[in-house]
Amino acid sequence: KNHHDAVVEITGMPALLKGDSKADTLEVVLEDAIIGLEVHLFYTVFEEYNVLARSAVLVNQSQEELCLRSAYSASVDLPQGEYDVIHFPGSWGRERDQVRTHLTMGLKAELESARGGSSAQLNPFVMIASPDADEVHGEVYGFALVYSGNHSTVAKIDQFGYLRVQQGMNPHQFEWKLAPGEHFETPQCVICYSDAGFGQMSREYHDLIRNNLMRSAWAKKDRPVLINNWEGTYFGFTEEKLLAMADKAAEVGIDLFVLDDGWFGKRDDDRSGLGDWFVNKKKLPSGIDGLAAKMNEKGLKFGLWFEPEMVSPDSDLYRAHPDWAIHVEEREPALSRHQLVLDLSKPEVCEYVIQVVSDILANANVEYVKWDMNRQITDMPCNGYNHKYTLGYYKIMSIITERFPHILFEGCSSGGARFDLGVLAYMPQIWASDNSDAIARLKIQYSTSMCYPIASISSHVTASPNHQNGRLTSLKTRADVAYMGAFGYELDITKMTDEELQIVKEQIVLDKQLQELMRNGDFYRILSPYDTNYCSWEVVSKDKKKVFLFVCRVLNKAQTKESPVKLQGLDEDKVYRNTLTGQEYPGSMLMYKGIRPHFRWEDFATDIFVLESVE
Ligand code: GLA
Repeated sequence: KNHHDAVVEITGMPALLKGDSKADTLEVVLEDAIIGLEVHLFYTVFEEYNVLARSAVLVNQSQEELCLRSAYSASVDLPQGEYDVIHFPGSWGRERDQVRTHLTMGLKAELESARGGSSAQLNPFVMIASPDADEVHGEVYGFALVYSGNHSTVAKIDQFGYLRVQQGMNPHQFEWKLAPGEHFETPQCVICYSDAGFGQMSREYHDLIRNNLMRSAWAKKDRPVLINNWEGTYFGFTEEKLLAMADKAAEVGIDLFVLDDGWFGKRDDDRSGLGDWFVNKKKLPSGIDGLAAKMNEKGLKFGLWFEPEMVSPDSDLYRAHPDWAIHVEEREPALSRHQLVLDLSKPEVCEYVIQVVSDILANANVEYVKWDMNRQITDMPCNGYNHKYTLGYYKIMSIITERFPHILFEGCSSGGARFDLGVLAYMPQIWASDNSDAIARLKIQYSTSMCYPIASISSHVTASPNHQNGRLTSLKTRADVAYMGAFGYELDITKMTDEELQIVKEQIVLDKQLQELMRNGDFYRILSPYDTNYCSWEVVSKDKKKVFLFVCRVLNKAQTKESPVKLQGLDEDKVYRNTLTGQEYPGSMLMYKGIRPHFRWEDFATDIFVLESVE
């Protein structure tokens, strides 16, 4: 069947939207007459993208119950050839590292997460590339799953040299019973092809995700520059302290103040309180509404942290509903960060979460929400449970984000442990990592940009020495790295000197000038922090009139002369002026000879160029 001018809708899960695109969908129906199973395969193509979206619906047409043990979203046989697989494994604080492996016959690459969420350990995005492929050359296929639960990508070369790639939900602990007449829908897999390297593939994904995946109106709006109190105070704050931080924040031009963990229930550390989403009046005598009003009086918007999918055993919620925590009957569930996970497969639990969060958002002027999820899911009560949980999560997200469309939602999961297209469908930005060190962030942000748009990568300037690795970096370096993403600060601003505050003021002015470019522009990775002592990226506006170039030299070396950095994607007939220095350069020179960065004489030095074409 041909579905002209249509995309696929998947019940209870996000999928690509048609938006303003021209899209057609082909439905292929396969039948196994013996067991009575019908499989509907959906292939959606878009006129403007080299993208193929795949999903499947399995229907039980028999008179008996069928049990699904596996349901991949896509299975693709790529032509005979040599292939590398590139995947993005990691851990807390080291999300989305990059590993490239050459595939040989007989070797099966099984890339999966069974941790309950898309995970820091392996992102549900995988690239298959010709061995010669790099940023600007070679063939690449991206496979990205629109899903936030357990996932799997399998790549294997067959006896004739064809490469089969499959991506979808992880079959591990999966099982779904279909009564006669019932059906099962898989999540969507988005495959993208480039014959000009990783860069072109990333730019396609970025456009597609911004235009055809993100539901939030914020996807197309400048984001507020925010300050988050977490690394500034952790749990140790008072209303007075927050207001003192807010005064300084307002003074330097910050738009929004985010109150992180610790404002509710009994929550002075991470051992109690999750689930009790009622303001702690001892800490915050004015309540959330009062505090938001005070922030608003200072000219700041107000944002709030939640971790609604969790419950602490030491909480009123757990005492009232111990059975609401995920557990296996008669067994003690495993704690992680002293907390348990709420059973989102239960409609009444989803209702509670929706109600309790909505009550706060409806009664205080909250304009930003950080939606966190800080542990892996264990103790799954039955096979297939993780999918039920994921459907509950999407139900909650779709209802809350539709109910409060003016709120900017940011995803988070112990940093970037749930950075995937399922989350981005509802929340246009995600905290990329709890590792906020600018140098660690080079790799994290570089790899994350392979699939995900840069404005979705939340990135903050934090204190030096850095809290995760003790590294000392300049305030300039920290901001230069953070401009690439959804920009903000996360430190005790009351401790900054006047000189530092002046720098912060200037950084905020610059970030606001750059926002539109970062949100809509074409992204180029120029120098890789994986292969070189440098890292460089560049953003070019669609009309090629505005350009941002970032270069970092990781370690300083004696007796060196920096090589020029060659820009990409410019108009070679245009002349560009560096708005920071006034110097002018022909586009052709920037592209073919390059521009020489100037670094301070130190480790971890950065240089940025903000170029505009001269009429
Ligand atoms: C997680 C998040 C942090 C912070 C803490 C609060 O680790 O990633 O940004 O919100 O939780 O407990």
